[in-house]
Amino acid sequence: MPPADSIDVPRLLADCKLASVEYRGSLPSTQDRAHQLAADGKTPLLVVADAQTAGRGRGGNRWWTGGGSLAFSLLIDPVAHGLPRQPVSQASLAAGIALIDAVSVWLGDTIIGLHWPNDVFAAGRKLAGILIDVLPDGRHIVGVGLNVNNTFSAAPDEVRLRATSLIELSGQTLDRTEILILFLRAFEGMLAQLATNPAELGCRFDRCCLQIGHDLTIELANRRTTGRCAGIAPDGALLLDTLSGRQKFYSGVLR
Ligand code: BTN
Repeated sequence: MPPADSIDVPRLLADCKLASVEYRGSLPSTQDRAHQLAADGKTPLLVVADAQTAGRGRGGNRWWTGGGSLAFSLLIDPVAHGLPRQPVSQASLAAGIALIDAVSVWLGDTIIGLHWPNDVFAAGRKLAGILIDVLPDGRHIVGVGLNVNNTFSAAPDEVRLRATSLIELSGQTLDRTEILILFLRAFEGMLAQLATNPAELGCRFDRCCLQIGHDLTIELANRRTTGRCAGIAPDGALLLDTLSGRQKFYSGVLR
């Protein structure tokens, strides 16, 4: 039996610009499935699953997909959005802002924002994670795990202790299809803005950064750097004020 809040694929196709949608009850990983389907070539292509048995996170981590959460991967071609066919370094931050815009209406005064490089936090806990794979031909697979109607009693400790969901924050069971539609429309708008007015979107990265003023340690190429976060630059870089001055990081793992 499909879950009560099944994704409404005809509604998705009617309301969003999508070439195709694959919706499954369970998959190892929507990200891996999108890689398989990418050979067909048509974009935007969306893969959604109610459950993932081998969901992938950043840096080889696992992504726990609790029942009622949203797990999806969107294959896009930057050229179709007026962007060059090369890694779009701001894409994961743009996806984060699109998620914030999609869900804020249910969150009242709850503080929600970005945790560089690819997380959305709300009320001090992780609400969503974003993983972007760039294919050799320059197309992007944008993978999103968003905690919607899931709770964490069955989750591994490391997830339960630091995650939250929209149902926990809002007290309401939400329509996952509606949230997905709001995200897809917002993300399309973000990509258009990246192509035409990247500075304006860049300012939002900084305004939404929740780590400003925090002391952070970042590891890149086996080297750790500690500094006070001064925000996110318009080009997507994390700004750290270190003892040797301000440094910009385009990648790295926060420790
Ligand atoms: C992270 O926080 O490390 C990123 C998590 C990304 C998880 C999503 S869920 C949908 C898609 N499929 C996957 O296997 N991973 C991404």
